[in-house]
Amino acid sequence: MRRQYCTYCNSEAITRVPERGVKLCRDHFVQFFETEIENVIERYQMLQGVRRLLIAVSGGKDSIALLHVLRKISERRGIDLVGATIDLGIEGYSEHCVEISRRHYERLGVPYLIVKLEDYGFTIDKAKKYEKSVRPVCSVCGLVKRYLLNKVALELNCDAIATGHNLVDVAQYMVANFLSGSLDALLKLRPVTRGEDLLVTRVRPFFFMHERYIELYVNILGLEYVSERCPYSMRGAEGRDMPFQEYLRTVLLELDLRYPGTLYRSVHSFVRNVLPVLERLSVRRGERVGRCAICGMPTQEEGRVCAFCKIRDILSKAN
Ligand code: AMP
Ligand code: FES
Ligand code: ZN
Ligand code: ZN
Repeated sequence: MRRQYCTYCNSEAITRVPERGVKLCRDHFVQFFETEIENVIERYQMLQGVRRLLIAVSGGKDSIALLHVLRKISERRGIDLVGATIDLGIEGYSEHCVEISRRHYERLGVPYLIVKLEDYGFTIDKAKKYEKSVRPVCSVCGLVKRYLLNKVALELNCDAIATGHNLVDVAQYMVANFLSGSLDALLKLRPVTRGEDLLVTRVRPFFFMHERYIELYVNILGLEYVSERCPYSMRGAEGRDMPFQEYLRTVLLELDLRYPGTLYRSVHSFVRNVLPVLERLSVRRGERVGRCAICGMPTQEEGRVCAFCKIRDILSKAN
């Protein structure tokens, strides 16, 4: 195969970036990646007024890459960075995620907190066991992460929470919610969700970054990460048994391989053209929000007990 050269220097190119119409060598790729993230942070004013930032680290490639990029950026801007990793209690998986996250925090000198879900009386393994009578395990897991990260951010006085959601996650969520007509869910799909009441601002610096660039970045820097997927995210490797979300992701990745840049352009035009229209159409439901009688967090649940406390109550009593 013919050698390809970097668009900016005479070194050999290691990748093409069709979204930008360039080919890049290792050094220019790292520069491109970090600059791109800083530009998104600027464009969406993600760190405006932020003095202390909580970064949610799962141990996967996305949040490990984000930890490295944000440490550089927060150091330059005088922002305190604090890490949080939730030990979900998935046997044979969570221990590894926590260990890898811990090693990165310590090597980078980032203060951190490991939150054990078990301390709340249940684990995700237990949620799996009772999923038929409660709700699907991934839905419990998502709820637990949102709730605990917000709680930790409030307790540590953080002005924002950064997560590693990437372009493919966003595209998958966008298409799935479009197909099911969930307009409320689509409205939540944005690079920044401004905080209100007791809900801390959420920022997603990798919103427009394809996972293949994130993977390349961690590999170039030689960063270790948890490469296996959560055991509950995929049942049956392929074909009929493959859960809908996993299959949708595969289809979107194939589409993007055949027509490079499709996901990037779609997510951009969603943010530019669709979100503003949805925002205008949306009906504010603020008046229904009350406080959870148990934990005091905002809730729209009937009976004034938040979804987390309800699930905690059921699962901590189950045996
Ligand atoms: P996921 O929901 O697993 O696709 O993860 C999306 C993002 O949520 C990750 O990039 C992290 O920023 C955050 N996250 C996921 N799992 C954890 C965890 N166990 N502890 C802390 N943050 C997490
Ligand atoms: Fe939450 Fe798999 S990481 S169910
Ligand atoms: Zn170069
Ligand atoms: Zn509650």
